[in-house]
Amino acid sequence: MFGFFARKGPFKANIAPCDASFEVRPGDNLLKAALDNGLPWPHNCRVGSCGQCRCRLKSGKIKALNDFSYVLSGEEMDSGVILACQTSLRSDVEIEVVMDQPPTQLSQPKTVAGAIADMRALTHDILEVCIQLDAPLPPYLAGQYAELTVPGVIEKPRSYSFAAAPDAEQPGLVRFFIRHVPEGEMTTWLHAADRRGQRVSVTGPYGSFWLRESPAPMICIAGGSGMAPIKALLEQVSQQGFQRKVTYVFGARTQDDLYCLTRCARSRRAATAISISSRCCRASPMAATGPACAATAPTSCRPMRTICPTATPICAGRRAWSTPRSPV
Ligand SMILES: Cc1cc2nc3c(=O)[nH]c(=O)nc-3n(C[C@H](O)[C@H](O)[C@H](O)COP(=O)(O)OP(=O)(O)OC[C@H]3O[C@@H](n4cnc5c(N)ncnc54)[C@H](O)[C@@H]3O)c2cc1C
Ligand code: FES
Repeated sequence: MFGFFARKGPFKANIAPCDASFEVRPGDNLLKAALDNGLPWPHNCRVGSCGQCRCRLKSGKIKALNDFSYVLSGEEMDSGVILACQTSLRSDVEIEVVMDQPPTQLSQPKTVAGAIADMRALTHDILEVCIQLDAPLPPYLAGQYAELTVPGVIEKPRSYSFAAAPDAEQPGLVRFFIRHVPEGEMTTWLHAADRRGQRVSVTGPYGSFWLRESPAPMICIAGGSGMAPIKALLEQVSQQGFQRKVTYVFGARTQDDLYCLTRCARSRRAATAISISSRCCRASPMAATGPACAATAPTSCRPMRTICPTATPICAGRRAWSTPRSPV
């Protein structure tokens, strides 16, 4: 009964050791509020499955929006570790977190309206969607993502990785690779018809997936629409005359699921150190004879999960790769 009269917020989050503080509005989670305030809070999936947004609650009351024990150990939870993307506030709080170290000052996310300028099928279930914005977004780093809404149609934002290096795009143009999730609201709507001309809204940039400075070789592994942030990174490194050895393994179930091979080959030609191999599994008439598969051995039939090898890891996180419900 007393909960009925409890204050609903907004509440203040004080962050140590970086000495930042920001307001968390009712309905927002801690991570969203931090990102909206331009803080480089480590994160990836935003749905409570990767554990990257973990932080320690030093004082104050929170509400867990999901069961942390799927991701955090008992020891971590006993010591006050929580998942910022699954936390709303019940009082002002004090939080300890180690922020990401971006290579440059991160842009503060901004919402910009625009219209779908072009869309085309890359595979049977992945669309390339190009959006012409009314004004450019703040500069993003290759590997980052934006949130997309379709005002009046789909109001809850969905996240999509920029599928091109920032310098490879015309001003105000952004593109995404969007895979159809059966029964998914946004993707079923997008894939159902020609949506060119549709007004949309894009907020960003977000994300802490960017190139880390290091002389170590890089290994990138991605499948499906997880190609998007990797392609953006490869374009960036090939433009920069990159000195490190990069291996990109692109996983696909059948030859029909392979795409962008020509564009990747262009990056490979531009920077000779990049080697790209595409891997198919599950026999299909095309896959059995297709040149892209002929030289590769079958791999696991599950969607490929990005891994972080001991060399500099390049990980493109996706909900699809961490949920057992994946229909891929
Ligand atoms: C940081 C980040 C970057 C992302 N980048 C991309 C990208 O570049 N391209 C892309 O296609 N997607 C990307 N996603 C996934 C995207 O944000 C949406 O979740 C996805 O498009 C589904 O939206 P929907 O509205 O169709 O499904 P919803 O209506 O939101 O979901 C319908 C059902 O499907 C489940 N579901 C949702 N997403 C998936 C999924 N991916 N696989 C399996 N089951 C799912 C839900 O749990 C729910 O039960 C990214 C997600 C994150 C967090
Ligand atoms: S668990 Fe919070 S961002 Fe992945």
